[in-house]
Amino acid sequence: MGNFDGKIVIVTGAASGIGSAIARRLSADGASVCVSDLKQETCDEFARTLAGRAIAVAADVSREDDVRRLVDTAVSRLGRLDVLVNNAGIGEKPVPIDEKPAEVWHRILETNLSSVFYGIKHAARVMKASGSGGVVVNIASILGSVGFSGAPAYVAAKHGVVGLTRAAALELAAFRIRVVAVQPAFIHTPLVKPEMEAAVLPLHPAGRLGEPEEVASLVAYLASDEAAFLTGAGYLIDGGYTAA
Ligand code: NAI
Repeated sequence: MGNFDGKIVIVTGAASGIGSAIARRLSADGASVCVSDLKQETCDEFARTLAGRAIAVAADVSREDDVRRLVDTAVSRLGRLDVLVNNAGIGEKPVPIDEKPAEVWHRILETNLSSVFYGIKHAARVMKASGSGGVVVNIASILGSVGFSGAPAYVAAKHGVVGLTRAAALELAAFRIRVVAVQPAFIHTPLVKPEMEAAVLPLHPAGRLGEPEEVASLVAYLASDEAAFLTGAGYLIDGGYTAA
């Protein structure tokens, strides 16, 4: 028996890093998982490795039509939606702000912030219709609370995710839909290149980066019924990064 027996979950950006760890954890805890990422083939491959029932639906989260189709496909094939994890995201190459192409700004805002709006919007639509409530977990970052030189678009997008989490939580609480954000410091995933890891390691008082499974543990708690009183906040998991 797991905390997620009978629950239907969508995880975006599930073919790598933190998203993979979340999908694996919730699947092991009993959920039926709709695995989503950019390429159908990688979604299929990853879904086959999960312990429980899983389906694979490719979607580009920066496009509202894709997110609408993702949510509707999960509901039609799995019957309902209990938990959406808005995890997909991209990093930002450090470039001085006065040289930053506007195209980079727009792509990061679309992929890391508009995507979360599309996810909340379409999850709320089907969760309201079911009348059973639900949970949306948004993977923000410590950079939703503090700045980072050279990455203005990423920092603005993640601050936006934390604000969007608050606004949506207020509006959706009456429908028993909780909306929370997770704010990790730097985590060992393909997003963090070795040279970046060396530069940011000293910023973590814990003396190491985090592991994707540690973020997945927090998500598993936040998305569970044990966290029924938690909504509208961002939860740091940062090895002391923001305490300094
Ligand atoms: P990752 O690069 O290992 O995985 C991200 C996944 O998202 C990839 O599989 C990629 O194909 C997918 N993806 C990218 N753009 C997409 C799009 N438009 N539509 C659908 N899928 C797309 O990265 P990681 O580290 O696992 O990051 C996951 C989330 O965690 C991101 O939102 C990131 O900003 C956030 N995060 C990561 C931290 C880190 O240090 N690794 C720290 C704090 C937050």
